[in-house]
Amino acid sequence: MLILSPSILAADFTKLGEQIRKTAEAGAGYIHLDVMDGMFVPQISFGMPVIETIRKCTDQVFDVHLMIEDPGRYIEAFAKAGADIITVHAEACTHLDRVIQQIKATGKKAGVALNPATPLSALDYVLDELDMVLVMTVNPGFGGQKLIPYCLQKVRDLREKMKTRGLNLDIQVDGGIKASNAKEVIEAGANVLVGGSAVFSGDVAANTKAFMDVFAEMESR
Ligand code: DX5
Ligand code: ZN
Repeated sequence: MLILSPSILAADFTKLGEQIRKTAEAGAGYIHLDVMDGMFVPQISFGMPVIETIRKCTDQVFDVHLMIEDPGRYIEAFAKAGADIITVHAEACTHLDRVIQQIKATGKKAGVALNPATPLSALDYVLDELDMVLVMTVNPGFGGQKLIPYCLQKVRDLREKMKTRGLNLDIQVDGGIKASNAKEVIEAGANVLVGGSAVFSGDVAANTKAFMDVFAEMESR
């Protein structure tokens, strides 16, 4: 199933509730929440209190992308704030297996993200434990960047690896994703697409629909 996960990083925070509602009405399944700590990535975005507040205005699946050092310190807190999927960066965890188990213990779905330069083999021994792999298609930290083309090869390699191992987890892509390159990333093997600026710059409903049109075309094949 193809899912759009709009990243609110690019949203108008003065009308966040309304913008989230528009993406949901136009067919987006998730809301992508980018948490940045100013250490793992240069920016500081938002944390638990903001997520807790937005939780009150939507039933969308909360897809929380933790771009923070040592995320094991905060798994329970993000679960409590309303996360449905918690994704941590492999590069930010000294004890990745332990953090994955921590996420699973909260009853939430577990995802691991890989920066562009991190090889897939970092996940070889934990792949069976995961619900989702997030293949970053830009270096994390900022919205509005351009997709790094070689990352699509990583998506293809991951889809192939999963096939060989009989696994069917979600493959998410994040960074520089637009309706105009959605077909290419889906063909590579991704099924959860994060869209920040491509969803929230301009007409949110029309932008979301542009993704949905590509999804419908790909699903009818
Ligand atoms: C980047 C974040 C992304 C970001 C995507 O570090 O993880 O989720 O919001 O923004 P766009 O779609 O504009 O590249
Ligand atoms: Zn993200």
